[in-house]
Amino acid sequence: MLKSIAVLTSGGDSPGMNAATRAVVRTAIFEGVKVWGIYNGYQGMIEDDIHELTSRSVSDIIQRGGTFLGTARSEEFKTEAGRKKALANLKKHEIEGLVIIGGDGSLTGGSLLSKLGNGMPIVGLPGTIDNDVWGTDYTIGADTAVNTILDAINKLRDTASSHRRIIVIEVMGRKSGWLAMMSGIAGGAEYILVPEAKFDLDQICRELKDSYTSGRRYSIIVVAEGAGSGIEISKQIGAKTGIDTRVSVLGHIQRGGSPSVEDRLKASILGERAALAVISGVSNVVFGFNAGKVVSIDLFDSVNNTKTLDPELVRLARVLT
Ligand code: F6P
Repeated sequence: MLKSIAVLTSGGDSPGMNAATRAVVRTAIFEGVKVWGIYNGYQGMIEDDIHELTSRSVSDIIQRGGTFLGTARSEEFKTEAGRKKALANLKKHEIEGLVIIGGDGSLTGGSLLSKLGNGMPIVGLPGTIDNDVWGTDYTIGADTAVNTILDAINKLRDTASSHRRIIVIEVMGRKSGWLAMMSGIAGGAEYILVPEAKFDLDQICRELKDSYTSGRRYSIIVVAEGAGSGIEISKQIGAKTGIDTRVSVLGHIQRGGSPSVEDRLKASILGERAALAVISGVSNVVFGFNAGKVVSIDLFDSVNNTKTLDPELVRLARVLT
């Protein structure tokens, strides 16, 4: 059993990261293990921004979005020299194991660190609003984010229908259309454009024109940022259809906010699992949820594979939109 572990959050923040960190910290303390917080992700590991945490350090955070530990996208950590520096700091504090909470890039960072770390136990938790970590169907923060988007779609519907407009909503997801697909289906969008599926904008414009001619009052089009720029797409739609078109780029509002019940609960469950595993020396695994159950996935499998959008959802969207 390890005597001292550390936890960090990395990459884009997501609602529920705090709940996961809290669970890691409190589980470790419950087990009599010293626990350190690494502030500002891998960059903080390089800069030795590492501080011991107590149970009180994580009080009053379960309801907060973001991550109290801070996060960063570290260029230096991508170099071997940066990772060696980071590892030396862990050794200096006699940290024997690590829990990493983050998305694909952050878990890849963990796998690179693991190769240098001479067997130091490393456990990952999927924390990103994008829900794109292979081997899992849930990532911490995705539920809150999709509900934030749904709320925006509902509001944009009101104004779109009043003005007989087309409204294009650009949502996050550089490589993954999960947020667009889920919010688009739940929000009753007319079209959902995702990076994983080809679309023909000319065809869409023809259909939009026809539907307006036959009496449609308004249309909602959800675009994942990875499928194209919402601003560009709305310009083209406006020009090709002649229908009054507006765009709303939701941006970082999707990353904030108080986490939903699902995100708080699942983050807490995963945080406990990660802490117990790393303390007992388990290494190179990612704990996540799949079909409602906690699963452990090999860290290297998780980062070397790409999660695809559920084809059933893509099919359902085609039927319903
Ligand atoms: O957290 C993942 C993600 O939200 C992507 O969907 C998005 O493209 C990216 O982060 C934006 O990151 P940044 O905060 O660095 O602009």
